[in-house]
Amino acid sequence: MKTQVAIIGGGPSGLLLSQLLHTRGIESIVLERKTKDYVLSRIRAGVLEQGLVRLLEEAGCAERLHAEGYVHDGTLVSYGDEMFRVDFTEHTGTPVIVYGQTEVTRDLYAAREAAGGIIEYEVEDVVINNADSDAPYITYTVGGEPRRVDCDFVAGCDGFHGISRQTIPLDVRREYEKVYPFGWLGILSETPPVNHELIYANSTRGFALCSMRNENLSRYYIQCSLSDKPEDWTDEAFWQELKRRIPADQAAKLVTGPSIEKSIAPLRSFVTEPMRYGNLFLCGDAAHIVPPTGAKGLNTAASDVHYLYNGLRAFYETGSREGIDSYSEKALKRVWKAERFSWWFSSLMHRYPHQSEFDLKMQIADLEFLRSNKAAQQAMAENYVGLPY
Ligand code: APR
Ligand code: PHB
Repeated sequence: MKTQVAIIGGGPSGLLLSQLLHTRGIESIVLERKTKDYVLSRIRAGVLEQGLVRLLEEAGCAERLHAEGYVHDGTLVSYGDEMFRVDFTEHTGTPVIVYGQTEVTRDLYAAREAAGGIIEYEVEDVVINNADSDAPYITYTVGGEPRRVDCDFVAGCDGFHGISRQTIPLDVRREYEKVYPFGWLGILSETPPVNHELIYANSTRGFALCSMRNENLSRYYIQCSLSDKPEDWTDEAFWQELKRRIPADQAAKLVTGPSIEKSIAPLRSFVTEPMRYGNLFLCGDAAHIVPPTGAKGLNTAASDVHYLYNGLRAFYETGSREGIDSYSEKALKRVWKAERFSWWFSSLMHRYPHQSEFDLKMQIADLEFLRSNKAAQQAMAENYVGLPY
């Protein structure tokens, strides 16, 4: 098979890139290791920056998002029983949209299928060959049958555990990592959200987050030990712990119910440089990971896709290589700012082992400053709604 852009990975990054390229008549093929249902079963953060919303509009996939997404003009931040609001729209003129990432992925799959896009599922043994040549090609198998795709460019959108990053030689790649000493235990429950806006909670017992998918589907998280397993936590134990970590007036109105999903996610900050090797371009989680505290995972993948899409579009429409040659530098500039915000917000809101009494005082002083200082709230709001592309 021959195509212009071979895309490895059928998650949000790969699908969004494929759909955007399609709008400009640029051919691509998406190679996905799992089934579509498996990809859609993943529960991920549902806070969309305006930059991602605009890309989905350009891709012709934003209709349901605008019909069913929730515009959030701000968020709540609590510490103990204290709580304050950071107003995104007041400080930046921009809200965020709360819309499940599963729904974004569903909309992208629907658009690719409607456009007759080629997505191969359950691919195995994917190898990127001649990445640093003008004639890269992908070899893989489907059901044991060998396949090959010749292409101009390869987009590595295969996430943290994919093979694309590994294709860049170790003597070329530089990796930066911070592993956090805790995880997030998350549940989904078919209950009304405790508040119409998100609550990020710092408590002496650890971090908690109250989020939602719609008016009868709530998403809650509590910071947990890395040694915890989901089965260690009954629903009742989860609800009791969550109530201890959010302000009493919020806990009093929390509607509990059976969990329909329960999982633990580790937290990590990770960046690989460069995000390009020859005609291989890394996008999204294949190149970087952020702790979910700032909801930057999907939104930073979106800015990668924006830079790569526009670079490829310029190449095919004008022959200019400027966009693809500057891709890695441009993408990394914004990646590192998202890493910083996610690390800062995680440091502010979580309990860390071995924190001294002084460290805890600094956290509270930071929260009090954020509560009372317009410039501090402006800085947080600008990062949360998304820095410019
Ligand atoms: N071959 C083909 N597909 C692969 C391979 C492989 N060797 N390895 C992984 N994949 C697929 C995975 O099955 C997954 O569907 O690549 C996809 C990668 O998707 P994500 O991990 O979701 O990463 P990305 O698309 O970059 O999404 C970025 O969105 O998923 C959220 O918040 C999450 O930060 C993440 C963001
Ligand atoms: C979620 O709704 O899953 C969510 C929201 C905000 C975050 C992380 C997760 O920062």
